Amino acid sequence: METRSARVRAYAKVNLSLRVLGRRPDGYHELRTVFQTIGLADTIDIACTPGRGLSITLDDPMALADNLVTRAARLFAEHYKVRGALTMKLIKRIPAGAGLGGGSSDAAAVLLALPALTGKRASLADLMDLGARLGSDVAFFLAGGAALGIGRGEELYPLPEPKPLPVLVVAPHVHVSTPEAYRLLQRPALTSLAEPPKLNVFQSFVWSEDFASGSGNDFEAAVFSLHPELERWLRKLERSGAHVARLSGSGAALFGVFPNQARLQGALPRFRSESLTVFSTRMLTRRLYRARWSASLREHAIEGTWPPLSRYL
Ligand code: C5P
Repeated sequence: METRSARVRAYAKVNLSLRVLGRRPDGYHELRTVFQTIGLADTIDIACTPGRGLSITLDDPMALADNLVTRAARLFAEHYKVRGALTMKLIKRIPAGAGLGGGSSDAAAVLLALPALTGKRASLADLMDLGARLGSDVAFFLAGGAALGIGRGEELYPLPEPKPLPVLVVAPHVHVSTPEAYRLLQRPALTSLAEPPKLNVFQSFVWSEDFASGSGNDFEAAVFSLHPELERWLRKLERSGAHVARLSGSGAALFGVFPNQARLQGALPRFRSESLTVFSTRMLTRRLYRARWSASLREHAIEGTWPPLSRYL
């Protein structure tokens, strides 16, 4: 049988706002967040050769044991009874452990590509279920664009797309562990009465639709106390003309949303530093996210379907 292959992109995300409401009985934290995909991406080459048994191999520059890419492929293959050889190569651009969702997006990209390549019919509900088992952010990349994330962030609803504005991503060479960042939060049981309840602030942010004001990230105070240089870069993004400048996820990457490309270009020289990796990109709308997926899987999937539906059913 022939080998079917594709080169796909796994896009990064930023959290335009991220509110942590409290710790749940299962140990996870209850979130309200607005996710947004951006153009920065990893590349994954995937080849499937039908055969007996199952072999999964990954060429990964970071050589991470038990990479999420391999775990996603194994989970999919076991769930859909895929037989043969799955060979993958990962080309990393998204900094790892930066709050940009790189690992989660890689896993989601495998879950989106494999149904088309292996000729399996996979519903979005099933893929979301597999995704949530791999990590809280994986489900979001099965949707893309602008989405409201609640619960662990794995329960997602589409939001009206904001204008695809330019985004400057500034990734300091600092690693913040996500479980450690959650531990640092030590949430008080209730919002103090002096400030409006967090849920109301978040709601007003979402209802503003253009997401221009009222965003926040509840990790900032804790993460900045550990790494004060991050707060200095954030303030610099604001002073450089970013409408919204935030920590992404639990960091350590920061991002600024600029009103136009000229303003972003003007800001760029201020972020030339050996302690940073900088990416100039823009928001990727759901329409464009899906169009790019369609183009990557052109040979194997039926155009206009989501999740991409295999031609080999
Ligand atoms: O789900 P994921 O593996 O991405 O989460 C990594 C860690 O982050 C979890 O083990 C948990 O400690 C923490 N976390 C959390 N609440 C969330 C998401 C993650 O406490 N909503």
